[in-house]
Amino acid sequence: MHDASDPQEQTLTADEMAGIDQLHKAVTALRNGDLVGLPTETVYGLAGDATNATAVANIFNAKGRPHFNPLICHVTGIDMADALAVMDPISRRLADAFWPGPLTLVLPKRPDAPLADLATAGLDTVALRAPGHPVAQSVIEAFGGPVAAPSANLSGKLSPTRAAHVAAGLGDQVAVILDGGPCSVGLESSIIRVLPDRLMMLRPGSITSTMLKKVSGLPVELSKGSGPITAPGQLQSHYAPDAIVRLNATAKQPGECLIGFGPMKADLTLSHSGDLVEAAANLFQILREADTRSDQIAVAPIPQDGLGLAINDRLIRAAAPRPKDTKGKN
Ligand code: TXA
Ligand code: MG
Repeated sequence: MHDASDPQEQTLTADEMAGIDQLHKAVTALRNGDLVGLPTETVYGLAGDATNATAVANIFNAKGRPHFNPLICHVTGIDMADALAVMDPISRRLADAFWPGPLTLVLPKRPDAPLADLATAGLDTVALRAPGHPVAQSVIEAFGGPVAAPSANLSGKLSPTRAAHVAAGLGDQVAVILDGGPCSVGLESSIIRVLPDRLMMLRPGSITSTMLKKVSGLPVELSKGSGPITAPGQLQSHYAPDAIVRLNATAKQPGECLIGFGPMKADLTLSHSGDLVEAAANLFQILREADTRSDQIAVAPIPQDGLGLAINDRLIRAAAPRPKDTKGKN
């Protein structure tokens, strides 16, 4: 509470004022769909509004990622998480014990969660974590919504643990870099999924199996081929359309729903102006829409450069032949 009679509450140091100014810049940037270099206790994140598909597309674009990984969405705590995902009792207990902190929980996404499809790579689950760093907490709280943030490095480079690392790799891609000092953990968060009889460790981190077992009372299994999941194709489940998908289509064949790119005649379009950021932002939503319209989807050629690499990677997966029994399952 503000107490005007307390002189200490009336004056701010120059450092505090600079901090407020930076916080304000960061929140404004997030609201505008721009990106922020954000310190967390694990590594610096390349942060964007998780509800804004263009902002999320910009994250992938900035990192130069050749594929779309689902991103971790950062929240203030259980209250914000509850609005986005369904938290079972064990996940709730784990969040109570380890949030804020370096634990990410993969949870069923609420159907009405306002998250961009691209943030979850079209999955029905969402990875959530409440970071422990006070700067990250202040930003998410002031922004008032979930913030998607992979590590703030170019694809294939080392994760950044200092503001200067972010500036060196991605300085020209972000509106502002907040300097929160060196990261105390320095290693990406542990990622787990709660199953009925055990916990699946999808990515090991500083919250260990022993710690998780103690709190949950459940055994912890290291996911097969453990280590970081580098592509949605490596996830056990990922969104695939029910329809058959034909790529590099320049014209529509009977019965097809044609997804266009650029100024062509089509049923749906990824980007009428041929903009790859817009196309990436629309990709999962348009695939879903096409899937409801026809059991045959055709997609126009997408240029194989920049974000086009990630878009084509995803489209190739969507078009790959699927065993009958997995067809249509998420
Ligand atoms: O420490 C961290 O977690 C850092 C800092 C910035 O918070 N963030 C981070 O985020 O490493 P990110 O977005 O790079 O992590 C993405 C990874 C994916 O590659 C995948 O392994 C996992 O999180 N993931 C995300 N969503 C998932 C989902 N729905 N199901 C399974 N795994 C998921
Ligand atoms: Mg990373």
